[in-house]
Amino acid sequence: MTIETAEDLSELRKIGRIVAVTLQEMRTRTEPGMTTGELDRIGKGLLENYGARSAPQLTYNFPGATCISINEEAAHGIPGNRVIQPGDVVNIDVSAEKNGYFADTGGTFVVPPGNPLKDNLIAATQRALAEACQSASAGQPLNGIGKSIQHVARQTGFRIIRNLCSHGVGRGLHEEPGEIPGYYVPGDTRVLHEGLVITIEPFLSTQSRFVSEGSDGWTLTGETGNLSAQFEHTLVITKGKPILLTVV
Ligand code: CO
Ligand code: CO
Repeated sequence: MTIETAEDLSELRKIGRIVAVTLQEMRTRTEPGMTTGELDRIGKGLLENYGARSAPQLTYNFPGATCISINEEAAHGIPGNRVIQPGDVVNIDVSAEKNGYFADTGGTFVVPPGNPLKDNLIAATQRALAEACQSASAGQPLNGIGKSIQHVARQTGFRIIRNLCSHGVGRGLHEEPGEIPGYYVPGDTRVLHEGLVITIEPFLSTQSRFVSEGSDGWTLTGETGNLSAQFEHTLVITKGKPILLTVV
């Protein structure tokens, strides 16, 4: 969506904060030995307390309140009986709706102990998000987002999962201007405009450039042994720095 009123911005800030707080709390409460289903119930309870509805459940009938993806799982992991282990790379993605407004956030962390590969992957992905946000301002080409992510991936030696994209958001979970590739597409002539609400969500990996859907019809998984990380903000494009909505 494109912001038109002060109410649009204040409502987006509200739902942005709700998903950010939920993600933070879920991360804090993650412990080895618990299942992803238990972790999801914490998120579900928080969203309910804030009067928000899970966006993937609402939009796609996703079988969980949040998406929890571990190790070779890159995205859309279904919370369930999987037991979280020490050393797991855990991605939690929280998106929700309140009063007709949507926000989407995500983050990745290692359940201790970490190791240099996992720590570097996570740090690189976080940096890719930060640099892509810097490049996103009104009048700039939309493909600058993918360009920034690609720059960081090259510098750090990680790969980009090419079939997972950033996207428009706001009145729906996925909306105009559609998918925003996480790599540089020279022929993409779209331009960012003031007030546009989008996510930026780089997915970097140790091996896989593509992920495929598992037999459960949801989980997107890389090659065996692949590790990936994602960080995601919902933000509003301005003439200067974007307004980050998914902050606590
Ligand atoms: Co998300
Ligand atoms: Co998203």
